[in-house]
Amino acid sequence: MILARDFNNIVVLSGAGLSAESGLRTFRDADGLWEGHRVEDVCTPEAYARDAQTVLRFYNARRTQLKDVKANAAHRALADFQRRHPKKISLVTQNVDDLLERAGASEVIHMHGELLKGLCTACNKRFAWSEAMELSSSCPECGKRGCVRPDIVWFGEVPYHMADIEKRLHNCDLFVAIGTSGQVYPAAGFVSAAAAAGAETVELNLENSQSPWFSEKVSGRACELVPHMFRL
Ligand code: APR
Repeated sequence: MILARDFNNIVVLSGAGLSAESGLRTFRDADGLWEGHRVEDVCTPEAYARDAQTVLRFYNARRTQLKDVKANAAHRALADFQRRHPKKISLVTQNVDDLLERAGASEVIHMHGELLKGLCTACNKRFAWSEAMELSSSCPECGKRGCVRPDIVWFGEVPYHMADIEKRLHNCDLFVAIGTSGQVYPAAGFVSAAAAAGAETVELNLENSQSPWFSEKVSGRACELVPHMFRL
C-alpha cells in the first residue's frame, strides 16, 4: 500500500465508513434506511417544509447520539498525521459528526455541514448549537424565533466550500477516499478531478466501488487501513 508520508499534497475525502467503527451507522445500510428513516423524509428541504418537527427531532437524536460515541483509530491516525504534517493534508469530510475534531484534527472541511451547528433561515448566519433544536428556538445572531434549522446540507442543496475543495483537488498529488460509497455527487466526482490533475487515487473501503478512477483500491475496515497508510 502507498504511504501518505511519501506525498506532499494530500486530499482525504471521508464518508460514513470512517465513523462506522465508532458506532455511527452509515447511510446506505442493507435496509436502505438511515436510523430507521427514509432519507427523503428527513434529509431534504421538502421534508423540512412539510414536517419541520419530525426533521428537528431526527437531528436532535443524531446530536444526542454524538455524546455516546468516541473517535476511533482511523480518526486519530488522520489527526496525528495532520499534526505532524500540517501543510501536506486537507481533510474533507461528508460526515456531519465532530469525531475528527475530537481526535485532534483542525480545519476539517465539512462539505455537508455539521450536527453541532445551526443555520438561521432569516439572517443566513451559522452558529454553534449543541442542545435540542425546537420549532420555537431563537437565532443567537439576529434574535428571531422560529427560523433556526440544522446546519446540514440536504439533498438538493449546494455543498459548502466547493471552490476551495476544487482548488485543493487540482493541486493534489494523492487523493484518498475513505469509507464512502461514492453514490452522492459532487463528492463522488472528486476522484476523477484528482486523477485529471495527475494524482494517485486510492480508495479505502469495506467494499470497493466500481469507480474506474482509482489507481489503487484496498478493501478493509477504516480502523485497520487508515493507521497503516497514514503512519508517521
Ligand atoms: N471501514 C471502511 N468502510 C466502511 C466501514 C468501515 N468500518 N463500514 C462501512 N464502510 C463503507 C461501506 O461499505 C460504504 O461503501 O462506507 C461506505 C458508506 O457509504 P454511505 O453509507 O453511502 O455513506 P457516504 O458515502 O458517506 O454518504 C454520502 O450521502 O446521505 C448522504 O449526505 C449524506 O454525507 C452523506 C452522503
